[in-house]
Amino acid sequence: MEQKIVILTGAGVSAESGLNTYRDKGGIWEKYDLMELATPEAFAANPTKVHEFYNLRRGIVAEVQPNAAHRALANLQSDYTGEVFLVTQNVDNLHEKAGSDPVYHMHGELAKVRCSLCHTVIDTLDDIDTSTKCGQCGHIGGMRPHVVWFGEMPFYLEKIEEKLQQCDLFISIGTSGTVYPAAGFVRAAKMSGAKTVELNMEPSEGQHLFDQGLYGPATEVVPTFVDKILKGEI
Ligand code: OAD
Repeated sequence: MEQKIVILTGAGVSAESGLNTYRDKGGIWEKYDLMELATPEAFAANPTKVHEFYNLRRGIVAEVQPNAAHRALANLQSDYTGEVFLVTQNVDNLHEKAGSDPVYHMHGELAKVRCSLCHTVIDTLDDIDTSTKCGQCGHIGGMRPHVVWFGEMPFYLEKIEEKLQQCDLFISIGTSGTVYPAAGFVRAAKMSGAKTVELNMEPSEGQHLFDQGLYGPATEVVPTFVDKILKGEI
């Protein structure tokens, strides 16, 4: 059967590429204060500090490579005869580096920056600061990371909602299921009659909402599960 599949990924899919997750031991929000770095108010109060945090992360993203989980998902997108809609909470570009296309980055992308004034989005892995000039409108000091901060609206929500309403299979990969609206996607998929599957290191907060759960490192469980889909076993 050709199914319509929606895949939601989170930081766990990139962990084995060397990128820290947010809430695991040693995770990003254990080392850094979310309220001082990932809100519009934090940026307004101390743009230099916020720029430094995202410049550091942008630099790391430029170095890391996709892993077997990203590659398996890219293969699924290219080889599966049904529809595969890939939405990620991740701001890294490892799905793209593995060959996935398209990738819906609902929380934005580290490899892009945006002008707060004219809203032009620019691809770059370079550092930005309070003196960076917008290449489009020429305004100085308005460039910001093209990421969604807490208190801001995630991207592509209408499109995601539409896909969740139509999907037959919803797969959540490497996310703790604590941040909304992404944490609510499993409920929406279930209401549409989709089968729901969680692939994660450990059961997430919403474990009871999944029909099936496969637990272990993403580089192992994701390729195994993708193989089954491609063989028509799921
Ligand atoms: P979290 O750090 O909250 O959760 C990561 C999940 O990945 C946990 O459930 C881990 O058990 C799991 N995990 C860790 N290593 C893994 C591995 N090797 N294989 C499989 N699973 C593994 O990250 P997210 O759920 O992605 O938002 O966080 C959601 C959002 O919160 C992020 O997009 C970010 C953050 O604040 C914004 O910045 C807006």
